Amino acid sequence: MTDQAAIQGHSAAQNRAPIEFTGVAAKYNNGHVALQGITCRIEHATSTALVGANGSGKTTLLRLIAGLIKPSEGVISPHTSKKSVALVPQQHGLRAWMPLTVSDVLRMSRFRDRGLIKRFGSADRSVIEEAADRLEVLDLRKHQFGELSGGQRQRVMVAQALAHDADVLLMDEPITGLDMPSQEAIIRIIDEERKMGRIVVISTHHMDEAELCDQVLLLANRLIAVGSPAEVLTNKNLQDAFGLRMAHGDEDDCVFHGEHDSHQGGVLHVFSDHGHGHDHFDR
Ligand SMILES: Nc1ncnc2c1ncn2[C@@H]1O[C@H](COP(=O)(O)OP(=O)(O)O)[C@@H](O)[C@H]1O
Ligand SMILES: [Mg+2]
Repeated sequence: MTDQAAIQGHSAAQNRAPIEFTGVAAKYNNGHVALQGITCRIEHATSTALVGANGSGKTTLLRLIAGLIKPSEGVISPHTSKKSVALVPQQHGLRAWMPLTVSDVLRMSRFRDRGLIKRFGSADRSVIEEAADRLEVLDLRKHQFGELSGGQRQRVMVAQALAHDADVLLMDEPITGLDMPSQEAIIRIIDEERKMGRIVVISTHHMDEAELCDQVLLLANRLIAVGSPAEVLTNKNLQDAFGLRMAHGDEDDCVFHGEHDSHQGGVLHVFSDHGHGHDHFDR
């Protein structure tokens, strides 16, 4: 075996390794402990749903997997830099004011692979077209991104993430608030990506979406239960996870502030329609 082949073989093996959390806690800068005692394992070729009330730590867990924040305790292995990760963040309503076409948004996905100088090639084009086709947004390419419906925009964001061919696909509440065809398209993608061997992790408030995943992590700032949907989504567990908050009708979403970026090495793609200039970054 050549050195190069050995290196590639090694990195392929690392890419196939599961993601393992051992006693992980996450503490934000203000001292708030968002998660603690998280021990779990996420295999390739599986889909995992993070379920829990607002503020239960779903987004924090996705950020830990993405390497955007570091555990304050415990270990996540392999280090996220060993895998490429695509993250579709939670949508926060209409902030798509950027003067970009759908085609522009999709092309952003290929900046890492071609570099900024190399010409955009036919390989880039075909990867993007395939992703756009899978999300049924090919016909929208000439449209302004900001003029799309919420469901169309989210399908474009998912297509952009797919065009990266990352080892790990993370989506934060990908179907919340979308029209049914968009929800169905994204649910189909979760299943297809998992069958292609990727690790897929989503957060969701939709029990029917969680039930379609291989594994469910039920969170309440700690792990209430982990296992198959049937094992985890029991009345007792759901009451433990949601009980108090449901009684109080807490439907507000959490606001993020002061998060730090600590993804080191590897490749992280964050896809957001916020248009603040840091939506898409490679490491
Ligand atoms: N940047 C931050 N700084 C301080 N606390 C945060 C930050 N982001 C989230 N939190 C807090 O961490 C907890 C978990 O939040 P989050 O992971 O967003 O939960 P979820 O996605 O399940 O709604 C919440 O109590 C939230 O207020
Ligand atoms: Mg969240």
